[in-house]
Amino acid sequence: MVANKRIPFIGANWKMYLMPNQVIPYIEAIKHNIPRPSEAQVMIAASPLYLWPLLEHAKQSDVIIGAENCDYHDTGAYTGEVSPKALAEAGVTYSIAGHSERRHYFDEDDEVVNKKVHALLRNNIKPIVCCDETLVRTETHDGVHWVVSQVIAAFKDVSDKDALKMMIAYEPRWAIGTGITASAAEAEEGCALIRQTISRIYSPAIADAVRVLYGGSVTPKNVKALMEQPDIDGVLVGSASLDPNEFLNLIHY
Ligand code: 13P
Repeated sequence: MVANKRIPFIGANWKMYLMPNQVIPYIEAIKHNIPRPSEAQVMIAASPLYLWPLLEHAKQSDVIIGAENCDYHDTGAYTGEVSPKALAEAGVTYSIAGHSERRHYFDEDDEVVNKKVHALLRNNIKPIVCCDETLVRTETHDGVHWVVSQVIAAFKDVSDKDALKMMIAYEPRWAIGTGITASAAEAEEGCALIRQTISRIYSPAIADAVRVLYGGSVTPKNVKALMEQPDIDGVLVGSASLDPNEFLNLIHY
């Protein structure tokens, strides 16, 4: 039996923006002002530099602390990389994998993203896989195929049981950091396509249980329309997550 209640998920992706003096005031400002986890889950994905203090300050609160990225080896001679095993031991429970910026600036391809998915799952960290879509492909009406192929690649060799631990985010590159949000209908189209693809790979029941997120210029103003779409279970927020008050407004849309 697959439980099919998809709890809304609101994730901040701080990227490489906040400075050390901003991190503790931020978590302190939001930690007791978020919904109960049965109503909505709230995550902050932060640079590895900040994870440890964030985990300490998030104790006795419902804020989830996540990683923005990690390596696909558990340990080893990989200077500068972040171990998924160490993340897990430190208490991190979610991590983004294959964000558009990783794919674009750091040449992460589908195979690397799939390796990261497996590394996270074997370390009991829930992967949030981002599927990109470029402007060119959108203009040529080929974005759809591009997203499908990334979803298929992300789930390669992932069991039914593990698939249920994953989230997939539809993050069209043209909407990230640009202020050009996909309309609610465009975002729904991308998210619905992801769900149909999961249904074809696994089953309708699994597709019904996996949460699908939208990311790209989400703000306190447009979040409600996005969250009302049937296949959008949550959002990943960049720019509008950098100020704790703005993020709180967005959480309590
Ligand atoms: P923006 O909200 O700044 O467009 O970034 C979105 C994003 O990349 C979330 O992962």
